[in-house]
Amino acid sequence: MASNPTVAAAEPTGAATNPAVLRYALIGTGMMGVEHVHALRSLPDTEIVALCDPHAPSIAAAQAAIVSNEAGAAARNFATTAPRVFADVHSLIAAGGFDVAVVATPNFTHREVVEPLLHAGVHLLIEKPLCITAQQCRELIAIEHTTARSGRVVWTGLEYRYMAPTMRLLEHARSGVLGRLRMFAIREHRFPFLVKVGDWNRFSSNTGGTLVEKCCHFFDLMRLVLRSEPVRVFASGAQDVNHLHESYGGRRPDILDNAFVIVDFAGGERASLDLCMFAEATRNEQELSLVGDLGKAEALVTEGIVRVGLRKDGWFQARDEVTHADDVPTAVRQHGSHHGSSWREHVAMQRAIREGRSAEVSLHDGLMSVAMGEAAHRSIELGRPIAMSEVLG
Ligand SMILES: NC(=O)c1ccc[n+]([C@@H]2O[C@H](COP(=O)([O-])OP(=O)(O)OC[C@H]3O[C@@H](n4cnc5c(N)ncnc54)[C@H](O)[C@@H]3O)[C@@H](O)[C@H]2O)c1
Repeated sequence: MASNPTVAAAEPTGAATNPAVLRYALIGTGMMGVEHVHALRSLPDTEIVALCDPHAPSIAAAQAAIVSNEAGAAARNFATTAPRVFADVHSLIAAGGFDVAVVATPNFTHREVVEPLLHAGVHLLIEKPLCITAQQCRELIAIEHTTARSGRVVWTGLEYRYMAPTMRLLEHARSGVLGRLRMFAIREHRFPFLVKVGDWNRFSSNTGGTLVEKCCHFFDLMRLVLRSEPVRVFASGAQDVNHLHESYGGRRPDILDNAFVIVDFAGGERASLDLCMFAEATRNEQELSLVGDLGKAEALVTEGIVRVGLRKDGWFQARDEVTHADDVPTAVRQHGSHHGSSWREHVAMQRAIREGRSAEVSLHDGLMSVAMGEAAHRSIELGRPIAMSEVLG
């Protein structure tokens, strides 16, 4: 699709600060787009006014999600009118009439889909990974700067920040109770990649590679929790088990399914990622372990447990804190995955829009999470540590 930055909106489309009702356009209404529908339907003073996707079954799935729980939505001042449907982002922008766009199209399309939306001036939530390469991310950041307008919020969708146990772990990190943070280990042991529309996620050229596509979430958490910048990445990984016998147009998938990644940070902190995508027979999809010179905190994401131990309390002493999703509406918990984190991310983004504040998760955060994944892939390819400067220039 050719980008068309000069396209004019037929009716006002823009980044109004503090509008009474926020009007949303969803671009890409596959699995993640539908999760966004459920999240948005549970927010007050929110309308979904447009759906944009060339794939009719995806549009139908989003429409079905919108008309579900109609009574509850009406009670929250959620518009009940049917959203307009578009097959491409340019006709959506030309029609206008929306304040916020959510981009949930395949990774390799983000660069070209986002550019005209930045020129249109609307608030934007762009699903992770921001793009498939650091270079593409930098290009979008440059366009964001040239199109910047006061009050516009441009947000990278990295909603693992908003999982309840992870938020609690972050609170402990920030409180200082763990002392000076030294090591952060993240384990994700999970099921293989799901089937996507057109099987786009079977090839690294579409996704950026597993360590970009999937693991940008974890690289983002490393920077967020350690409040430090990565300097060097060393990784080992391969495609050993999954998708080996699948074929798409005669091509076998080339996506890595397990890896260890070590990241050195500027302040001397170390972080690691242990990824396995044939490990669904497990209790916790993610286990985060953060150790400072005074103590240790762990977040067990599926169980919702945070475990904290302080060295002054003695060996093998740690207390469990159970996190809850009481803040998340029941409808979101029933329909969405990601433990309500997408909903919390929308709440935070709407607050930023209404209060005229900048994004909590910026395009720069999106760039760094992609660049760390790209460095990890390059490390596997070349068999040596990769300095972040080699990827960031
Ligand atoms: N935050 C998370 O944890 C999370 C989880 C899953 C997916 N995602 C991200 O969300 C995005 C979508 O993933 P998905 O799982 O929903 O994939 P999907 O294949 O289920 O849906 C993608 C949809 O985008 C549509 N599409 C393709 N090109 C388009 C274009 N140019 N304009 C409009 N629509 C277009 C497709 O027809 C399809 O319906 C990806 O970037 C993915 O990485 C994020």
